[in-house]
Amino acid sequence: MCGIVAYIGDKPALPLLLEGLRRLEYRGYDSAGVALVDRDALWMRKQVGRVADLDREVGGAPEATVGIAHTRWATHGGITQPNAHPHLDAQGRVAVIHNGIIENFSQLRLALEADGVVFRSETDTEVLPHLIAKHLRGDPLAAVTEALKSVRGTYGIAVLFADFPDEIVVARNGSPLVIGLGDGETLVASDPQAIVAHTRQVLYVQDREIARITRGRADIRTLGGVGVQRQSTRIDDVYGVADLDGFPHFMLKEIHEQPAAITRCLAGRVQVEEGNAKLGGLNLAPRDLVGIERVVLLGCGTSHHAGLVGAMAIEAMARIPAQAEIASEFRYRHPIVARDALYLAVSQSGETSDTLGAVEEVMLKGGEVCGLVNVVGSTIARTCGKGVYIHSGPEIAVASTKAFNSQVSALLVFTLMLARARNLSLGQGREMARQLQEIPSLVARFLDAPGPIDQAVERLIHAPYVLYLGRGFSFPVALEGALKLKEIAYVPCEAYPGGEMKHGPIAMLSKGSPVVFVIPDDAHRDKAMSNLKEVEARGADVIAIHTEGDDEIAALSGVSIPIPRTANWASPLVSVVPLQLMAYRAALALGRDIDKPRNLAKSVTVE
Ligand code: F6R
Repeated sequence: MCGIVAYIGDKPALPLLLEGLRRLEYRGYDSAGVALVDRDALWMRKQVGRVADLDREVGGAPEATVGIAHTRWATHGGITQPNAHPHLDAQGRVAVIHNGIIENFSQLRLALEADGVVFRSETDTEVLPHLIAKHLRGDPLAAVTEALKSVRGTYGIAVLFADFPDEIVVARNGSPLVIGLGDGETLVASDPQAIVAHTRQVLYVQDREIARITRGRADIRTLGGVGVQRQSTRIDDVYGVADLDGFPHFMLKEIHEQPAAITRCLAGRVQVEEGNAKLGGLNLAPRDLVGIERVVLLGCGTSHHAGLVGAMAIEAMARIPAQAEIASEFRYRHPIVARDALYLAVSQSGETSDTLGAVEEVMLKGGEVCGLVNVVGSTIARTCGKGVYIHSGPEIAVASTKAFNSQVSALLVFTLMLARARNLSLGQGREMARQLQEIPSLVARFLDAPGPIDQAVERLIHAPYVLYLGRGFSFPVALEGALKLKEIAYVPCEAYPGGEMKHGPIAMLSKGSPVVFVIPDDAHRDKAMSNLKEVEARGADVIAIHTEGDDEIAALSGVSIPIPRTANWASPLVSVVPLQLMAYRAALALGRDIDKPRNLAKSVTVE
C-alpha cells in the first residue's frame, strides 16, 4: 500500500528517495511522486504507474539534499497524476505525502473552499497542505500540529517547506513511520526496509506524535506538545534486495521456499523427545497455559484462513474452545473480551490496519494479546510486546503463500505446547512432534512431482464460476485456494464447506462446472465423499486433492492430484500447495501480473 520515504542530509536526495521507493514497490501501488527543496523552492514530479516511470520523468532535477517521495495506492480519487502525492498548498510552498485516510476530509475541504482555496485533486490528502499553509507563521512544527488538530482519521505524513529548507516535519496516527538516524543525515519511511541500506539505527514514531527532522537529528513530541525522549533501536532483520533466484516470479519462488520456511519456523521449538514445544516469545509458563480458557485468533485474508486452521487444531488437540475472527469485523462489534482468553494477532506484514485495530480493542478492554507475525519489529509485533515470529523470510509476491504455511506451522507448534500442558500424554506429544517435523519433507516431495496441475488449470481459466469445497481442516484450505485464484487470476470462484454446498451454491453447477474438492483421507473423508458424489451427479468436473492411494476418489474425479499422507491437523500444510500452484499457473496462462495483481496491496495499512 502507500509508501513514504524522506531524506535530509548531505547527499543528493533524489537517487536515495527513488531507491527507497523501489524497496517499497512490493507493497503494491499505482502511482509515485517526489518533491525536493532547492534554494527556497519546491521541485516536484509525479507519475501514474511504476517507480521506473517516475524515474524517466526526473531529468533536470536539482541536486537537492532534502526531499520526500511517495507511492500511492488509490483510496480517495482515481489513479491519476493530479491525485498522486506529493500535494501542494495554493502557493506551492508546502508539500505533503500521506499514508492513511482523513475521514473528515469533505467537511475540511468545504470549509477551505469557502475560504477560496481551489483544489487540484480528488484526494483526502490535499486538505493537509492547505491547512498547514493556513497555520504557518514561522514555525513548521507548530503549523503541522495546529493543522492536525482539526483532522480525524489515520495518517503517517511527511511535510516539506520551501521556506524552511533545513527540516522536514513528520507525524503519525495509525500509519507506521520510522526514523533512521545516520551520520549527519536522517531518513524517514513507512517501512524500515526502505532505509536500512543507509542506517540500522531507528526511532519508531508512535501514534499522536510529531517530529522535526533535521540532519542527523529527530526531535519528537506528542501532538499535545510534550517532549518525548526515546532510545533508538537497532534493526538486524534486514531483507536483502529481493532476488528471484532464477524463478520467473516471486510467487513461484515463495511457493518453493515453503519446505525451508516451515523448517525455520519449527527449528528449536519442537522438542520430539519431550513430546512438547517451546515458544519463548509468548512468555507463558505451563501454569499460564493451563489457565487459558479460550483462544481467539485475529487476522485478515490469508492470515484469517491460517487462524481458522489454528482454531480447529487447538480445539481438536488441546480441547479448548478456539475461534478465528475476521479482524475488521471484530474490532467494530464491541467484542466481549474475556480475561481468561488468549488473543493471537496473526499477520504476515505486522502492519495490517484492521488487525492492529483489533489488537488495540482487545488491549483497551484488558485482554491479553500476543502477535504471530512475520516482519520483525513491525507495528503489530511491537504493539503486542510479546509473541511468535514465524520466520518465513521476506514475502514479496502480493499473494501470500509461504507465510500461510509458516503461520499454520507456528499455530500447530502453539497447539502442541498448549495440548501437552493440558491433556496430551508424553507418547501423544511425541507423536505430534514427530508428525510436525515430517511436514517439510512431505511438502518438498509434493513440489518435486506436483501431478497434473495443468490439466486442472485448463478447466479453471475460462470457467465462469469455480466452486472450492472442503470439510473440517480442508475448508480453510478451500477458502485459501479460492482466494489465491481470485487474487491473481481474477477467475470468479468461491469456497464452501462440503456439507453446506447443497444449501445454495449447488444451484450454480451444471454440466462441466469445475469443482475443486480438497478431500484428504481424514475423519471427514466419507462425508466429503457423499458431497463429491452430489456434485458429480450434477455433471460437475471434479478436481480432487486427495491422499495418495485413494483410488476411489481418483476414479470419481476428472483431475486427480494426490498428496502425501499426513495427520489430519497437518493436512492443510500440504493440501494448500497444489491450490497455490493451480492459481499461479492459471494466472500465468491468462497473462496476469502475478506478483503485483491489480488493485491489491501487500501491506494493507488503511481500513
Ligand atoms: C492474500 C493476502 C491477504 C493478506 C491480508 C492480511 O494473499 O495476502 O489476504 O493475507 O491482507 O495481511 P497480513 O497477513 O500482512 O496481516
